[in-house]
Amino acid sequence: MNTKRGSIGGCVLCILIFSAYSLGQNLTAAQNAKDDHLQDASSNFTSISASYGYISEEHTVTTEDGYILTMFRIPKGKRCLGSVRQPPVLLMHGFLLNSDSWTDAGPTASLAYLLPDACYDLWLGNVRGTDYGRRHERLDPDTDSEFWNFTSNEMGKYDIPSFIDYILNRTSSTELIYVGYSQGARILIIMCSETEYCNKIKLFISLAPAVRLRYTRSLPFRLLVNFYELILPLLTNPNELEVLPKGGLIQSLAAYFCRDYIAAATVCKLALNLIDSYDPLSVLTQTARVLFGHTPAGSSARNVAFYSQSFAPTFNKYDYGADKNLEIYGSVEPPQYALNRTTIPVVLIYGKNDYLVDTKDVMWLSTQLPNVLETYQVIRPTWNHLDYTYSQFTPLQIFPKINQYFLKYTDKVLSSNG
Ligand SMILES: *[C@@H]1O[C@H](CO)[C@@H](O)[C@H](O)[C@H]1NC(C)=O
Ligand SMILES: *[C@@H]1O[C@H](CO)[C@@H](O)[C@H](O)[C@H]1NC(C)=O
Ligand SMILES: *[C@@H]1O[C@H](CO)[C@@H](O)[C@H](O)[C@H]1NC(C)=O
Ligand SMILES: *[C@@H]1O[C@H](CO)[C@@H](O)[C@H](O)[C@H]1NC(C)=O
Ligand SMILES: *[C@@H]1O[C@H](CO)[C@@H](O)[C@H](O)[C@H]1NC(C)=O
Repeated sequence: MNTKRGSIGGCVLCILIFSAYSLGQNLTAAQNAKDDHLQDASSNFTSISASYGYISEEHTVTTEDGYILTMFRIPKGKRCLGSVRQPPVLLMHGFLLNSDSWTDAGPTASLAYLLPDACYDLWLGNVRGTDYGRRHERLDPDTDSEFWNFTSNEMGKYDIPSFIDYILNRTSSTELIYVGYSQGARILIIMCSETEYCNKIKLFISLAPAVRLRYTRSLPFRLLVNFYELILPLLTNPNELEVLPKGGLIQSLAAYFCRDYIAAATVCKLALNLIDSYDPLSVLTQTARVLFGHTPAGSSARNVAFYSQSFAPTFNKYDYGADKNLEIYGSVEPPQYALNRTTIPVVLIYGKNDYLVDTKDVMWLSTQLPNVLETYQVIRPTWNHLDYTYSQFTPLQIFPKINQYFLKYTDKVLSSNG
């Protein structure tokens, strides 16, 4: 009797374990089927967009100071049935991101697809210091410290003008539309202050512009940038001056760990919420599984430190300390950027729950720029900073506003070019 009961018990246990196992298998299969863009985590822009039926182009641009940067283009989306509208659009990523981040929300929610599908000629740049901007005509990023001696000042002064020259040449246009997210908006405002390129921009859509950051509520961001401001004088080697590179330890670990469904749904989403703020349901677990494959994408220690100086009440140039400031700027204090030189039409878009770029700082910026068409608050009350690239709600929350202005500032052209 006893042995019989024992074997029945063993059998029941066996069946239980087996069903749990196969249920687990089925769950994993279901998750994988739902997360049909998981492979995006380990692919580049060209392969990712191609896998959804978007034909892209890769372009190489060399800046005046020798940095070799990769730009991508989707000239026409697969859902664009009519002719493409002109002028072309340049979309610039944020701090520690790259062009691939614009695909992480998947084929139904990423600006990288929504804009070409609405018949815009979309170009996506990558600034110096990212994995697509880690080459130079004479400097080696692995051995020359000088390669990493830049901040967003140089991105605005050199990278964006090179992209503009290149795009205008390729498309035979005289102007373009610029969409800048976070650091992407910061560097356009720097460009307008420091160069004569501003009048080549027909319209500037500024998504959560990281310009003055006086009221930033994100503690991890404040800690990171203040830490780099503090230790910058001690850093000398290229591998110390390069911060959070793609393929580095942090990015590789995050990418590996967050690929897992459970980890992505819990710890990885929590990490995003801690960096920014809490916006429930906005970033899908499948997006959280993919995005760490592309970010952090690297920058320079000096650029990270520059952000700690942006907590000041005005938007100033890089502060090298009194002596060096005197030598470079001719004054002890670093001068302010001339925000009044951004004379082009600007649309400012911001979210109420953005802990990195606070509403108060966007409002301040809107009083400094001479030609603001609209300062628009995203309707969703929990809209935060990372939502611009990663939210599943982009098609409803920000795309219509962007498209409204794009329709006004573009025209259909009959002959295709470029
Ligand atoms: C697993 O899925 C298969 C078919 O997809 C189904 O036949 C089987 O009953 C499922 N197993 C469990 C334990 O749900
Ligand atoms: C993107 O990946 C494909 C396939 O792995 C490769 O052929 C191509 O050179 C890559 N392009 C860039 C810009 O890295
Ligand atoms: C970094 O750039 C600044 C400003 O252009 C320059 O004054 C300084 O000498 C450079 N430092 C190094 C280490 O190249
Ligand atoms: C683009 O640049 C090339 C090389 O500098 C030049 O020959 C060509 O005329 C330019 N095209 C346009 C449309 O400006
Ligand atoms: C623009 O701003 C700069 C720097 O703040 C200032 O020196 C200049 O007088 C301003 N120009 C105009 C026309 O307001």
